[in-house]
Amino acid sequence: YAQLHTLAKAAGLKYFGTATDNNELTDTALVAALSNTSEFGQITPGNSQKWDSIEPSPNTFAFTNGDVVTALAKKNAQMLRCHTLVWFQQLPAWVQNGTWTKETLTAALQNHVTKTVTHYKGQCYSWDVVNEALEQDGTFRKSVFFTTIGEDYIRIAFEAAAAADPDTKLYYNDFSIENPSPKTTAALNIVKSLKASGTKIDGLGLQSHFIVGSTPSKEVQIANLKSFTALGVEVAITELDIRMTLPSTAALNSQQSVDYQNSVAACVEVENCVGVTVWDFDDKYSWVPSTFPGTGSACLFNENLVRKEAYFGAVAGITGAS
Ligand code: G3I
Repeated sequence: YAQLHTLAKAAGLKYFGTATDNNELTDTALVAALSNTSEFGQITPGNSQKWDSIEPSPNTFAFTNGDVVTALAKKNAQMLRCHTLVWFQQLPAWVQNGTWTKETLTAALQNHVTKTVTHYKGQCYSWDVVNEALEQDGTFRKSVFFTTIGEDYIRIAFEAAAAADPDTKLYYNDFSIENPSPKTTAALNIVKSLKASGTKIDGLGLQSHFIVGSTPSKEVQIANLKSFTALGVEVAITELDIRMTLPSTAALNSQQSVDYQNSVAACVEVENCVGVTVWDFDDKYSWVPSTFPGTGSACLFNENLVRKEAYFGAVAGITGAS
């Protein structure tokens, strides 16, 4: 029967995809499921393109782990969302704790972005250039980049990425921007100010790490996605998962299925929402239980790669979208 990516393409999306990570790739059953391209037409490396992985010491680049994931995508003819160039987490100590001036950190940032994007040139459908630059209240996160360079670090990162690979789509990516809020307004302002300065930005990634029963309605998600596309950028759901307090119950599972359906349908129904990526497709490798103890079962497949009710919710979100 038709599966997620095949259905998504038929419904007008560019892809349905999933994150994966290097530690998963020794699991042959997992790799077989991941490589089923009627299910997943796109991969995001979950960790191996982050700064601590790619440039662990100054100007020493370590692309091996990232290359393993990108090679798998290439072998499978899957699209790649490359993730992520500038983020306050998973920074190597030399960046996080370095003694910086505006000039030296700008140079280090430009070097990191330029060398990384150049290495993957031609392979990435898109790059998450800057990830999670905002606080919940809409102010800029006090990362080493913001405190040293100011908000201009965002423009500097996008400029360097655009210069290194003019053909990859450049995204700003964040969480808790899936409904109207001060943070969402601030994300809209990032898009506006980059555009106003003539800086290339192509897309806005809505991570969509949700909780069962408290996800925004389909209508709210649609209106919110349109508030971004109205600025002339495409949008994508980039890290969808919907966690619950364990143990799972029949009621939680069916609510989760509805919640998946709503998010997927929202993307399908918005012109210029290009695709949906889940943040791991199976509960075995989900980041959720270790980060939010007592919660889990956030994915479409269970630990044994069996499709859950949530999976069929996602299918309904694609095929039933009006
Ligand atoms: O690399 C070390 C390894 O050397 C060590 O042996 C091992 C022991 O715990 O830890 C490894 O690092 C872990 C890393 O993943 C790689 O597996 C970190 O502890 C762990 O915290 C890290 O978690 C990742 C998290 O980002 C970090 O914030 C998750 O796997 C990854 O799924 C998650 O992804 C983020 C997105 O990039 C951005 N949006 C939110 C999303 C979920 O947090």
